[in-house]
Amino acid sequence: MKLDIHPIGYSFAAQVRQIDLREGIDLQTAQAIEDALARFGVLVFSGQPINDDQQQAFIEHFGPPSLVQLAELKTAKSAHPHFFDVSTVEDDGSQIDPHSARGMYLRANLLWHTDGSQAQPPMRLTVLSARCLPAAPPPTEYADMRAAYAALSTERKAQIEDMQVEHSIFYSRSKMGMKMSDWTPDAATIRPPVIHPLVRTNARTGAKSLYLASHASHVVGLPVETGRALIEELTEHATQPRFVYSHAWQPDDLVMWDDSWTMHRATPYAGSEPRVLRWSGVREVAPV
Ligand code: OGA
Ligand code: MN
Repeated sequence: MKLDIHPIGYSFAAQVRQIDLREGIDLQTAQAIEDALARFGVLVFSGQPINDDQQQAFIEHFGPPSLVQLAELKTAKSAHPHFFDVSTVEDDGSQIDPHSARGMYLRANLLWHTDGSQAQPPMRLTVLSARCLPAAPPPTEYADMRAAYAALSTERKAQIEDMQVEHSIFYSRSKMGMKMSDWTPDAATIRPPVIHPLVRTNARTGAKSLYLASHASHVVGLPVETGRALIEELTEHATQPRFVYSHAWQPDDLVMWDDSWTMHRATPYAGSEPRVLRWSGVREVAPV
């Protein structure tokens, strides 16, 4: 099946039309979506009022679904083993306390990050389904880490070529004021720090990209502060407006992105209307 693809902005994102994900997709369609993801970092499927079973069936076409194990993200309403809710409200409809573990965990989405870089194997793809949006939803921003890498100087590319970076969920959450005592006791066992290359080569396209995230703590073998300054400098570079697509959410949007060569962040939202996006992810099959 040929996908009806419409590039958005400068062609880092695209909208996929004429498809109903509730009906399920066949192998050819899954392959066409994979091909589209090699070219576009972000795919927007508009008008997809899917349920959990349909979201699960969709992600299973693309690899092993990521298990959501952290108790900080679990509630009765989002108890599904592969999903959690990027939500502003608790199950009873009250606002999530910004100082609770769940509140601090989710608020870290405001930092530029890559989903699942704190795991090994890391996340490959994220699929986010808009289940409930306020009237004026805050956009989500995406950065093109392939274009950002390509725009680096030859000297900088040579300098960072073989660097390895340690990623940790506790590092990104410490930036939001989360202390080790705010986590459930087994969080440290579930999420030990991991090492990933700073420059990744896409297995399908051969294209290189920066691999950064709020979880990126330091560069292996460099003094911590030196590595941290480099990570910050590269993050600033990669998130300049020229590399960014800002997604304005519409009801029933489903947005899918390739975490191996994109970063993203939430933008602030002060309203009290609920905003609930159901998160799911697909892991890489081998360590990166
Ligand atoms: C995510 C995420 C940002 C947002 O779902 O992984 O970072 O705008 N979301 O909610
Ligand atoms: Mn995210």
